[in-house]
Amino acid sequence: MSQVKTATLADALRYAEDQLQLSAEFAGRSELRSELKSEARSVLSLAAKLSAAELYANAPGVVDGHAWERLRAIVQRRRSGEPLAYIEGVRGFHAIELKVDRSVLVPRPETEIIVDAVLERAPSKTFTVADLGTGSGAIALALAHALPDAQVLGTDISAAALETAAANARRLGQAVEWLESDWFTQLDGRAFDFICCNPPYVRSSDPHLELLHHEPQLALDGGPDGLAAIRAVLAGARDHLSPAGRLLLEHGYDQAADVSSLGYTAGLARECVVRDLAGHERVSVFVSSGPGLG
Ligand SMILES: C[S@@+](CC[C@H](N)C(=O)[O-])C[C@H]1O[C@@H](n2cnc3c(N)ncnc32)[C@H](O)[C@@H]1O
Repeated sequence: MSQVKTATLADALRYAEDQLQLSAEFAGRSELRSELKSEARSVLSLAAKLSAAELYANAPGVVDGHAWERLRAIVQRRRSGEPLAYIEGVRGFHAIELKVDRSVLVPRPETEIIVDAVLERAPSKTFTVADLGTGSGAIALALAHALPDAQVLGTDISAAALETAAANARRLGQAVEWLESDWFTQLDGRAFDFICCNPPYVRSSDPHLELLHHEPQLALDGGPDGLAAIRAVLAGARDHLSPAGRLLLEHGYDQAADVSSLGYTAGLARECVVRDLAGHERVSVFVSSGPGLG
């Protein structure tokens, strides 16, 4: 049986930092020092059941044996690569908080670009939005929250993900329509003012996929060239955009040129590409152009 010990908060914080430093995510990456420190505080705050402010206020205090055991267990889970969001059970996204579990990808800050790009372009009248591959419901629910006049649909091929998205909608009191669909297959005859999509776009051979093994591979693996889902979404978008409608598509940092030419082939013109905070071209915005070449 492991020994239950009492320690000071400062010792516990040092322990959390030292342990996290050994994880595949942080090992040998001195450039992630501030992320590591901030994560160690989050982990300790979760284990000690103290808010960040309480942690500061209690800095000279102690963690009891139970909190220490919780800390050890959480640190082990993090060292196995499990995202902190799954351990906490929640993740902030745009202006909302979402429950997340292994049925869904942990929403990433880059994806908030799609929400902001829709908000910049949203008309004042009622309009329609489809969020394809909604996962936790992140994009659909952030837009429903910000735009009470929008009619929002969220789709996914994963029934488990849709259950999580619907549970998030209930918690947030948002009325969003959910539909199980392989991209556009269940959307015959429907057109939208905005189609949003953060598809799986990691190449199957990318070593990062292994690091992300706790998250659904269906949400990440974009096939041999990373573009399989992107191709399917671009190919179907034109038939489901209203006349002045826009497709907002997230992609990998090095995929913008391929995405633009695949869009051209599918009868879409790229209006602009938005960069993420790291300066990478991350979200392409398309409008319908001609009849398409594909
Ligand atoms: C990168 S995740 C995005 C999740 C969420 N929109 C977000 O940004 O956090 C991609 C999502 O696409 C879904 N997906 C994968 N293949 C699909 C398909 N053929 N049709 C519809 N959704 C699909 C996955 O289940 C997953 O939820």
